Amino acid sequence: MAIDGPSGSGKSSVSKAVARKFGFHYLDTGAMYRAVAWWCLQQDIDLQDADSVARATVDLPLDMPLNPNDQRLMVDGNDITAAVRTPEISAVVSTVATNLAVRANLKSRQRALIARSRALGSGIVAEGRDVTTVVAPDAEVRILLTASEEARLNRRSAQLTKASVAQSEEALRDQVVRRDQEDATVSAFFEPAEGVVGIDTSALTFEQSVAAVNEVVTAQMPTQP
Ligand code: DC
Repeated sequence: MAIDGPSGSGKSSVSKAVARKFGFHYLDTGAMYRAVAWWCLQQDIDLQDADSVARATVDLPLDMPLNPNDQRLMVDGNDITAAVRTPEISAVVSTVATNLAVRANLKSRQRALIARSRALGSGIVAEGRDVTTVVAPDAEVRILLTASEEARLNRRSAQLTKASVAQSEEALRDQVVRRDQEDATVSAFFEPAEGVVGIDTSALTFEQSVAAVNEVVTAQMPTQP
């Protein structure tokens, strides 16, 4: 199952809830871009130096979690789960995500993880910006979650407040609006591609968004409970 959407569309929390409901694995592809940014900064690699970032990505010893209930992200023995969510990483991750060599490397890693999950006999919910279009265009269910800019800003602000991260209005806009604009230069995640079901969550609560996705899944994968 592939779910894409811009930041603040609710895709991560909704995808995780859907994975739990169906007993599926869960793959957060955005966390992989964040891990690359963390890994490069750790080694003092200039993120603008596309070739060095691409080389570092090839060497990244990333252990990606697939359990929706345990999303511990490990790199080379370091638990970077919290480190990749800081505003510092959010502010620079688009530079990594718009590096086409990085995208090619992560795309093959993502496909390998999806294949591993399927080989284990599990379903998987993979979410990001280009999963419905590039990583898994053949997924049985493909959904694009969208939301108005206002709703997305409000949600991201609430998430940061809950995590006790202080953020100015300007920094918040940078994290949501500027970042999406930059990311949208390499993937299309504002409009559903052909065959992808669009769900506008602007006026939906979290529970309603999960219910809307479940409805699409049940309709398109009738063998699921
Ligand atoms: O969803 P997120 O904020 O954790 O994503 C982190 C960054 O990675 C963001 O700049 C978008 C980018 N990304 C991407 O380009 N393609 C994906 N499949 C997932 C995320």
